[in-house]
Parts: sequence; structure tokens; C-alpha cells
Amino acid sequence: MLGSGSKKPILSVLQGRAVEPRPVWLMRQAGRFLPEYRKLRASVPDFLTLCFTPKLATEVTLQPIRRFAFDAAILFSDILVIPHALGQRVWFAEGEGPRLEPLDEGSIGKLDLSRVVRELNPVLETVANLRATLPAETTLIGFAGAPWTVATYMIAGRGSEDSAAARAFAAQHPAAFAQLIETLVTATSDYLIAQIDAGAEAIQLFESWASTVPSGKLEAFSLNPLRQIIDRVRAKHPQTPVIVFPRGSGANYLRYGEIGANAVSIDYESDIAAMRKAFSASTALQGNLDPATLIAGGEALRSTTAKILTDLKGTPHIFNLGHGVRPETPVEHVEALVRQIRVAA
Ligand code: CP3
Repeated sequence: MLGSGSKKPILSVLQGRAVEPRPVWLMRQAGRFLPEYRKLRASVPDFLTLCFTPKLATEVTLQPIRRFAFDAAILFSDILVIPHALGQRVWFAEGEGPRLEPLDEGSIGKLDLSRVVRELNPVLETVANLRATLPAETTLIGFAGAPWTVATYMIAGRGSEDSAAARAFAAQHPAAFAQLIETLVTATSDYLIAQIDAGAEAIQLFESWASTVPSGKLEAFSLNPLRQIIDRVRAKHPQTPVIVFPRGSGANYLRYGEIGANAVSIDYESDIAAMRKAFSASTALQGNLDPATLIAGGEALRSTTAKILTDLKGTPHIFNLGHGVRPETPVEHVEALVRQIRVAA
């Protein structure tokens, strides 16, 4: 499959090459900032129905590709489909974000790994549809949440800025917490392997709450589980590149370059030029425009984008944001961003 990379700019970068014009896609590129997404979203009763209806999930994934011709399409789904597939109740409260029936010590052993790939079959169907439909130059990215990040939602039953519930649970019930992480490593590996079997050409692991891993636990709660997932996926699909996004990992960022990923996605708080000097030259970097600068637009957007393009020139770099596109982002600012990146070379 290595040879096929040359037709797909993102795969070339993930193989360690510098590509111009710089390939670009945006985290959360399918979502509420697009009027066509809001329209389709209003036609379904809830968010998970959208994720589990292949025809609709395929359409939503393609919406930003049609508008902006990004170099990658990211599968439309969510990191919380894994807890759902393991048998935990998950729902998305309108205007409030995700809610889950919180796990307790006793319920961890009841999570059912044997259901995962079967429950997620509609998502795999979406992957297969997309692979058959996408333009030849567009890379299809599959994804999953990292075990720590997913566990924080499973234990608290919702998102939280500091993951306090998960940290308390891990401290109080270390054996049960280790079992939860192990269950998530297996479920996530199986799921990602199935996504690649179905047609995903690269995968991204979202460690969105890397900032909240307690001191001394980075290896056990985050790095090692991610390394295990990457090893298991590699054993089955040695050529499929892996991107890891350890958002907010600050001084620990470099350690995510040592878990076997092909690329590290840099958050907007970090200095991507400094990161480029610190990571090994063969590690591709992705990022790291501030989503708030994309909302602002104008000269701030133009000059920040130009600086990122210049700072990373001649290195393996995928242009992206330092976190997801926000719903209030003007569509015209995304158009201006893509135009600037396309002509910069
Ligand atoms: O375009 C894409 O990026 C692909 C689809 C995608 C979604 N979620 C769709 C979504 C991806 C890759 C995710 C990942 C995800 N989901 C993460 C990791 C990335 C990050 O943001 O840090 C996390 C933490 C989640 C959990 C989650 N899902 C939250 C916290 C929320 C609520 C916040 C919000 O933006 O509404 C969701 C819901 C969600 N996932 C929406 C979308 C488009 C909005 C739901 C709606 O339309 O009502």
C-alpha cells in the first residue's frame, strides 16, 4: 500500500514526506457550523441515530468535502459509541452534550466486549460507503477515543474540565480502573482494526483529556494503553498510519512521540515550531491553528496561518486546528483558510 500514498497527500505526509501545497483537514469539519449539517441533524431524533444510520452518516461526512475539498474525510461518528457498544447507556442531551449512566465499581465487569464490533457494524458500513464514494485523492480517516479520555466520560457520566470523578475512582478502586482501561484497549483495538478492514486509510486517537491524567500515572493511564492499541492495530495492519492527539499534554507532549504513532496532532496552546525541533524528524506533525482565530477571521487568521505554513515548511506537516471547529465559526472563514493554504506553495 505504500505506493498508493503518492496520490493521497495526507498519506504521503504520514509516511514522513514534506508535501506542498500543505494538505489540510479540520477536526470537527462535519458539524454544526455547516447549515447543511444543522438541517440534516434536525431530521433525526437524536445524535446517536445519526451516527448509526449509514446513509446519513455518510452524507454528513461528505458535506465538508464537497464544500472545501479537504484532503481528508474523517468518519462521522463519536468517541462515545464505544461505551454504548459495551452496553453502557449513552445519550446526547439537547444543548448539553453527552450523558452516560455513570459506571460504578460493580458495573465494569458487566461491560460486554463480545458486542462491540457487532453493535458498531453500522459505523463500519459507513466506512465502506465512504471509501467507495470519496475522490481518489482524499484520505479516509477512522478514529476512536483514547482509553483515559473515554473512561473519564464513562465514570463521570458526562464531560468535565478536570476529570475529577475519574481521578477519584482510579485512586479509590485501582484494580477496577485497570480493568476498565484494559477493556477499553481491547474494544478500541478491535473497533479500529474493523474500521481499517472496512476501508479506513489512517486512524486518529483522541486523548482529549490528556491534561487531566494525574502525575505519575501518565504511563499507566495514557501512554501504555495507546501503545498497546497501536501495537495491536499494527500487528493486523502494519501499513496503516496512526495519528495521536494528546490535547493539553504540555510538557509531556514529546512522550507521545514514543508510542509508535506516525503523527502527533499539536494543540493550539503549544508552539508547533518548537515542537517540530523537538520531535524526531520522521514524526509528522498536525495542527495547530487556534479555533478561535478561525472564528475571528481577517488579518489575524491570515497572518497566523501564514506563520504556521512557514514554520513547518519542508517538514511532514498536515494543516489542522489545535482543537475542533466551533459551531459559531463562519463558513467563509474556512473558505478563506483553505484558499490561502492552496495557493501558499
Ligand atoms: O467531523 C468530525 O470531527 C467527525 C466527527 C466527530 C464528532 N465527535 C462528532 C460530534 C469526532 C471525531 C468526535 C470526537 C469526539 N467526541 C471527541 C474528541 C475530540 C474533542 O473534541 O476533543 C470528544 C471528547 C467527543 C465527545 C462529545 N461528542 C462531546 C463532548 C460532544 C458535545 C460537544 C459538542 O460539540 O456538541 C459530542 C457531540 C458531537 N460529536 C457533535 C458532533 C458533530 C455535536 C452533536 C450535535 O449535532 O448535536
